[in-house]
Amino acid sequence: MSPFAPIVSPPLVDPFGRAITYVRVSVTDRCDFRCVYCMSEDMNFLPKRDVLSLEELDRLCSAFVALGTRKLRITGGEPLVRRDIMILFRSLSRHLASGALDELTLTTNGSQLQRHAAELADFGVRRVNVSLDTLDATKFRAITRWGDLDKVLAGIDAAHRAGLDVKLNAVALKGLNDREAGDMIAWAHGRGFDITFIEVMPLGEIATQRIDQYLPLSQLRADLSHRFTLQPSEHVSGGPARYFDVKETGGRLGFITPLTHNFCESCNRVRVTCTGTLYMCLGQEDAADLREPLRHAAGDDLVDAAIRAAIQRKPKGHDFIIDRATRAPAVARHMSMTGG
Ligand SMILES: C[S@@+](CC[C@H](N)C(=O)[O-])C[C@H]1O[C@@H](n2cnc3c(N)ncnc32)[C@H](O)[C@@H]1O
Ligand code: SF4
Repeated sequence: MSPFAPIVSPPLVDPFGRAITYVRVSVTDRCDFRCVYCMSEDMNFLPKRDVLSLEELDRLCSAFVALGTRKLRITGGEPLVRRDIMILFRSLSRHLASGALDELTLTTNGSQLQRHAAELADFGVRRVNVSLDTLDATKFRAITRWGDLDKVLAGIDAAHRAGLDVKLNAVALKGLNDREAGDMIAWAHGRGFDITFIEVMPLGEIATQRIDQYLPLSQLRADLSHRFTLQPSEHVSGGPARYFDVKETGGRLGFITPLTHNFCESCNRVRVTCTGTLYMCLGQEDAADLREPLRHAAGDDLVDAAIRAAIQRKPKGHDFIIDRATRAPAVARHMSMTGG
């Protein structure tokens, strides 16, 4: 072995034998959009003192890397609205350079991507997930409440020009983008982008009933099969999507189906909020506070112990239900808090 090879820790393993190698870190609960399925229009955001500083976020991410995390996804809220967020990307890129980390990536609404794409590529980001639910500017405004489609499309172009692989994520929304899905696939594949549809999840109170938004992807897939030939793909992304090759476009289509096909048995990830709260499952309330151990001592022993203890409590899976009888969300927190 080379004397310069990185020290790679064995991954954390939960009680169900799942190796935890993927951490999603929300760097802010704030956002410049108010997507109707994600937030209510008047959100109360966290006071600054509760939010981890960029240095603390770096320490926390690095602690996970030292415990065997191979993939870090920066998310939010909207990660690119966090002030000086590029400092965090630059700093975390050292783990890519050392070989301790395989992938540093982000999920973004794309609104600030035009400004940041080139720098992200410089810091070792290779792929970016951009959330885009429609290509119709009026619908886009209706879904995001505050968003501007042109800005997002310019951001996607900038990412592509910077050499980043773009993956589009669209939440399937009944009556809003279901009829457009085929055109979105053709548009994405025409540009060489993968596209994944996601079932809406019952996270946090919003203005409407989830059942009015919820479109089972089994239905969308059946509709799409009138236009496209979908062939199951061997591709795996390390996330929960199942992929199909689309014969007519030559592109790849993913489905994330937390409601109709639970994917928890292969779950390899945990999520940390911008306050340093570790959620072992997106769909359960149990959490571990990492901020207190982080702020209590300069060394990482306490944080490591808290992470290890929490992983031993990772639940088997979530219990999402969306139906007429179930009015309450599965968990009270919004997706923008835990990060996607
Ligand atoms: C919470 S956002 C955070 C990152 C960034 N602001 C964005 O929109 O990409 C991450 C992803 O979660 C998705 N999302 C938000 N609320 C959701 C919900 N209730 N069900 C399913 N997906 C949701 C968004 O569409 C987005 O793709
Ligand atoms: S989905 Fe993303 S862009 Fe939309 S409100 Fe939530 S955090 Fe903001």
